Amino acid sequence: MNICCIGAGYVGGPTMAMIAHKCPQIKVTVVDVDARRIAAWNDGPLPVFEPGLDDIVRQARGRNLFFSTDIDTAIREAQMIFISVNTPTKMYGVGAGKASDLQYVEACARRIAAVARDDKIVVEKSTLPVRTAESVRAILSAQHEGPRFQVLSNPEFLAEGTAMRDLENPDRVLIGGDPSAAGQAAVAALVEIYAKWVPRAKILTSNLWSSELSKLTANAFLAQRISSINAISALCEATGADVDEVAHAIGTDSRIGPKFLKASVGFGGSCFQKDILNLVYLCEHYGLDEVASYWEQVVKMNDYQKRRFTQRIVRGLYNTVANKRLAVLGFAFKKDTNDTRESPAIYVCQDLLAERAKVAIYDPQVTAEKVSADLGVKDLAAAGVEVCADAYAAAKGAHALIICTEWDEFKTLDFARIYQEMHRPAFVFDGRNILDLAALHKLGFTTSGIGKSNGE
Ligand code: UDX
Ligand code: UDX
Repeated sequence: MNICCIGAGYVGGPTMAMIAHKCPQIKVTVVDVDARRIAAWNDGPLPVFEPGLDDIVRQARGRNLFFSTDIDTAIREAQMIFISVNTPTKMYGVGAGKASDLQYVEACARRIAAVARDDKIVVEKSTLPVRTAESVRAILSAQHEGPRFQVLSNPEFLAEGTAMRDLENPDRVLIGGDPSAAGQAAVAALVEIYAKWVPRAKILTSNLWSSELSKLTANAFLAQRISSINAISALCEATGADVDEVAHAIGTDSRIGPKFLKASVGFGGSCFQKDILNLVYLCEHYGLDEVASYWEQVVKMNDYQKRRFTQRIVRGLYNTVANKRLAVLGFAFKKDTNDTRESPAIYVCQDLLAERAKVAIYDPQVTAEKVSADLGVKDLAAAGVEVCADAYAAAKGAHALIICTEWDEFKTLDFARIYQEMHRPAFVFDGRNILDLAALHKLGFTTSGIGKSNGE
């Protein structure tokens, strides 16, 4: 069997690597319009940093896993085609700022329709608005004579940083298909692939629309938990309660559960905001205004949390950060990834730069090139930004340490050394609640965490 995946990104690359790893009898070809990305998948360093990914790609590449820019050949040779291109928030026209931009998905469907010579199963891997499969199917079937297509929805629930673990041992795999016999045969073909390593009981099947909507709903629920605990963190700061203690206390209730209750500077990543806004847009489209504004509040709370964190920094530093060197530790949207999409660090840095601070950034995986693109500044030095080689270099001569990403290495820094090299009073603003603030306080730092009262 031949599989092709269009889109060699954070989702397409790791997912196909896992299928190739688990199913040596299937030939998997990942294609992309971006030749540089494909070259990196072939020669490294891989364009996506995920623990464990390197090994799997090295074993399978050239055996049954291939990366190519020859999209047409890969489509033609495949019996099953995954669409895994990006679906960013649309920034123009109708639905600007909320709806998903489906131009790349549509382009894929048109390409498949144009070059396919035999029947194919087309699998939506990208996260899509409900009923997108209808449009994909309409485009594919526009030629009356010609191959027949089945469209499946198979949303990806992997989280970045743990992608390989999530792919190897998923909570569930969801496959949506048409109720017709041909639709169910296509579902069965995809079930067969996952069943090579995922227990059957964890492979759920549903109709197309349920599958598409489940992905948006899962992300909305996860993001809602973070916004909920972050909302409580503001109340903790005002009252002297400690948000980690509150999260622990409520998380032991088995109905609530302990996961996704970590208060933070705000959630980031390519999915949560985009998918909720998309959900909001869909609700508005169907005239469900109350439902739309209910979910929109999750994003508003997240914006508030990011802004609140910066305001706390400025207030803590005697209401002015102009010309003060501030060490920002972490720029990725979470640990163990080089992905910075919608990273709260971007907003924090931009707000601090607007206050005329000098920002010294260190992240173990994010390059200066990416920082400059994300902050929208060509000349980093002129904008007051320095990208440093390690945390110590960033902290040297700084007034404050600002933790934006929860990288493990930040927990074990030599804070006594850092304290010696900082201005006094030396501040720590822990936007991830990963540091032992009491121990830092003993060293002399003035400390501040999310959902904790100041100056512990
Ligand atoms: C995925 C999903 O597709 C998205 O819907 C989901 O919400 C998040 O995960 P991701 O893999 O993170 O997106 O996106 P990205 O890393 O940007 O990769 C997409 C790739 O598709 C890029 O390499 C891009 O070059 C490629 N692409 C895009 C094509 O090959 N053809 C196109 O027409 C458009
Ligand atoms: C998310 C979903 O988890 C995944 O199922 C979906 O396929 C894609 O979107 P991802 O964005 O990779 O995955 O990361 P996730 O671990 O969900 O974290 C998202 C953001 O929330 C990060 O910025 C993270 O730091 C933040 N977060 C997460 C918190 O602030 N607190 C938490 O308790 C958990």
